[in-house]
Amino acid sequence: MRLDKFICKSTELTRTEAKKLLKMSKVTVNNVVIKDPATQVDEDDYICIEDEALTARSFRYIILHKPLATICSNVDEIYPSLLHLIAVDKAFDMHIAGRLDADTTGLVLITDDGLWSHNIISPKKQCEKVYRVWLRDPLKTTTAEKFTHGVQLQGEDGLTRPATLEQVAEKEVLLTITEGKYHQVKRMFAAVGNQVLGLHREQIGPVKLADLPLGEWRYLNTEEVSAFL
Ligand code: URA
Repeated sequence: MRLDKFICKSTELTRTEAKKLLKMSKVTVNNVVIKDPATQVDEDDYICIEDEALTARSFRYIILHKPLATICSNVDEIYPSLLHLIAVDKAFDMHIAGRLDADTTGLVLITDDGLWSHNIISPKKQCEKVYRVWLRDPLKTTTAEKFTHGVQLQGEDGLTRPATLEQVAEKEVLLTITEGKYHQVKRMFAAVGNQVLGLHREQIGPVKLADLPLGEWRYLNTEEVSAFL
């Protein structure tokens, strides 16, 4: 594992703070000062920050089936945070990797590993998200092509990245996108003169919601976690 990741995993420090300490020569690996955050280390290495030894704690990786009227925030607002649904110690120390609107249901990934969630939400990583969408009007024959080409969202420069559309019924589709702009799916359909009446996320990368019941959660398995490492 990278040294900066090991530090984040073993302390409350952010990646930026860890890098700062490395730059300031405050970190030793096996009694040698190391400044490069990408240095590979493992749990057998003796790693200290200002002479204090670190022990790696485990990160947590959770999948939750988000119900309506909950929010992907660490503080309650009009609706309660969905972190209330997770019965683990210090649930509010975790964060959500890719938010959903209060009126959207489906797959949410929750973790305390900032590097891992970065791989899901960073636009550069182009991680695929699959949404089931229920529309006000029947899907037009031109929409799939427009989404492949990219559409202009109101108030944004440039076009959306190529997205894939699969029709399920007259007013129901599966949409795969690789970015996560604010209200992206609703705004994409607004851009082609339609309206989203219902929205549900089924998949992020290779991780599927499958038959996880509404409001329930489970830990991700090793294979699912490593998909975003
Ligand atoms: N796009 C939206 O418009 N809303 C969501 O919750 C997720 C994607």
